[in-house]
Amino acid sequence: MPGRIRILFVSGVWRWGGGAEAVLLDLASRLDRSQFEAVLATSADDSLAGRFRDAGLPVHVLPSACFPPPTLRGAMTRRIAPMLDLLRAERFDLVHTNCDRSIIAAIDSATPHGIPVVCHLHDMIRPWFRRNVRTRLQRASAVVVVSSTLRAFCVERGLNPGNLHVVYNGVDPAPFHVAVPRRSAFRRPLGLGAAEVAIGVIGNLSADKGQEHLLLAAAEPALRALPIRIFLVGEDWTANRANERRLRRIVAERGLEDRTTFLGFRDDVPALLAAFDIIAAPFRLEAFGRVVVESMCAGKPVVAYRRGALPELVRDGREGLLVPPGDIAALADALRRLVLDPGLRAELGTRGRERAGSFTPDRQVGAMQALYENVVRRTPSRR
Ligand code: GLC
Repeated sequence: MPGRIRILFVSGVWRWGGGAEAVLLDLASRLDRSQFEAVLATSADDSLAGRFRDAGLPVHVLPSACFPPPTLRGAMTRRIAPMLDLLRAERFDLVHTNCDRSIIAAIDSATPHGIPVVCHLHDMIRPWFRRNVRTRLQRASAVVVVSSTLRAFCVERGLNPGNLHVVYNGVDPAPFHVAVPRRSAFRRPLGLGAAEVAIGVIGNLSADKGQEHLLLAAAEPALRALPIRIFLVGEDWTANRANERRLRRIVAERGLEDRTTFLGFRDDVPALLAAFDIIAAPFRLEAFGRVVVESMCAGKPVVAYRRGALPELVRDGREGLLVPPGDIAALADALRRLVLDPGLRAELGTRGRERAGSFTPDRQVGAMQALYENVVRRTPSRR
């Protein structure tokens, strides 16, 4: 193949903090640079752009009007001209979209010029599957889904099964392994006593991540009398912070103040996971659930809802415990079992560490590179 494959990664999301953006940066920065060249186009000069530049990758900032939500109103305000200009000004062999808002603009500007588009789907609950997005996804050269659960979801919504590729996200275990031996140093700043069992939940403070369920479980009689501490890691990104206020209200109403800590957005998740004892994943509907793999890398048992892709990652009784979605009493019981049984925690954690070996960056990057090569090879040469 003549020269390197030059990929434009497009993300209407401009902020650092979400799983999909972490996956994007990881992928773009791990590509074999002798064969691939990664460039980012995003909608604001903000934290995502900063992370890409820090990784030595070039960034273009396009007007946010390129990336309106895929609604009727969005259709009226969308302007794809800046993306078209970029595709004309520089040579790209492929465009990779990473969010719901980037799909329409990428397909509409790249495909008429014969540039193939790969759409990476990360969610089941955002407006990725509106009709106007689906018609574009049908025109993508390949659609990458992060789990078999998401694949089935796409097939149900009419996407061509032959064009759907399951590529699991990869998580580099190294930072998690390195942090584990420093557990006591990381527990100190959290004020954790030796006898206390720390239960963490990691994810932005939103109804989708189910922090409320964990708080309600902590207030159940099954857990009330046990020496547990609850840590909420994540931020409420919404303007009015309604969910955070709601969570704080529950903490006050249920008398959980002395055992609950809001840690906000944290960049030191490996250290926190080393400090915690149990990870709760009462998530509403994950397409993957990256923090669950991170928890397994750290050797921590996971208590998760049996829903979305979580059962693909964590197997009940092997790496964690799965409970029926929304069942607070079952969530409390599963946590209680683990709080009372350090041996079981260690056993599930050890198996989790092994299991995490199925979700390595090498696998993910290898699969993506093969896919990019295949897509470019199939595309008539424009060079
Ligand atoms: C989205 C999904 C999450 C997944 C991440 C990376 O944030 O909600 O489940 O882990 O993308 O693919």
